[in-house]
Amino acid sequence: MPRYHENTYGIVAIALHWTIALLFLGQIVFGFSMEQVKSLALQFELIQWHKSFGFLILILAFLRLLWRLAAGRPQPPATLSRVERVAAETVQWTLLIATLAVPLAGWALASTSTLGIPSFAFNLVVVPHLPLTPSDEAEAFWRETHKLLAYGAGMLAIGHAAAALAHHFVLRDDVLVRMLPGRAARPATHRVTLETNDDV
Ligand code: HEM
Ligand code: HEM
Repeated sequence: MPRYHENTYGIVAIALHWTIALLFLGQIVFGFSMEQVKSLALQFELIQWHKSFGFLILILAFLRLLWRLAAGRPQPPATLSRVERVAAETVQWTLLIATLAVPLAGWALASTSTLGIPSFAFNLVVVPHLPLTPSDEAEAFWRETHKLLAYGAGMLAIGHAAAALAHHFVLRDDVLVRMLPGRAARPATHRVTLETNDDV
């Protein structure tokens, strides 16, 4: 049975979408800002928080992927052309994969650092390093990959958000509203059951 409806993504997908969107965009601004800090002690502290929120995004994105595969999504509006449907689907899958790939690349970066600094998630648990061999070359590779993926995904997300707003304010369809909470659900399938009563 689908967990979404014809006219809404459903509360689980909506909650995950907006939580991940906020954390992901915030994490890019945070990552950029912490790079500008001069004090090494403060930078160490900020990187630990950056890693913590990164691990949180990774877990939420994994749940989002499972939910998307299990529950599906509402059909695109009938007014969209085939090209527009394929473009929207491609961007959404790229963003979904990016929310996994960016923190994984960050984790690989922390794991290959020759400094061997542990990752303290929210000062609660030590997250083990990935089984990768630390070296200056590997660290430089994962730093560049992490950075490119993060800023690339950030730009794609801005385009994605602009498209969603254009749908709402210019095309005036319900693409954005289906991703907002508070909409009463209309079931995806309507089955009309005709009951017969033999006693009558
Ligand atoms: C979705 C989650 C994440 C996003 C969007 C993100 C984004 C960023 C950005 C934008 C930077 C600054 C890059 C620069 O301008 O040089 C950065 C740096 C960094 N990130 Fe992440 N990050 C995420 C998750 C993680 C995770 C999970 C880890 C590690 C477990 C991590 C480790 C680092 C480290 C160590 C740096 C500093 C790199 C350096 O030394 O230059 N990040 N991140
Ligand atoms: C902050 C501005 C954002 C707005 C206004 C926005 C809006 C939307 C809308 C309206 C949809 C449904 C599109 C449809 O049904 O065709 C959607 C889906 C989606 N968005 Fe966003 N979004 C934003 C940010 C983000 C960010 C930052 C990410 C990830 C980095 C993201 C990832 C996704 C994904 C993966 C989907 C597919 C549905 C799902 O599986 O959750 N969005 N977004």
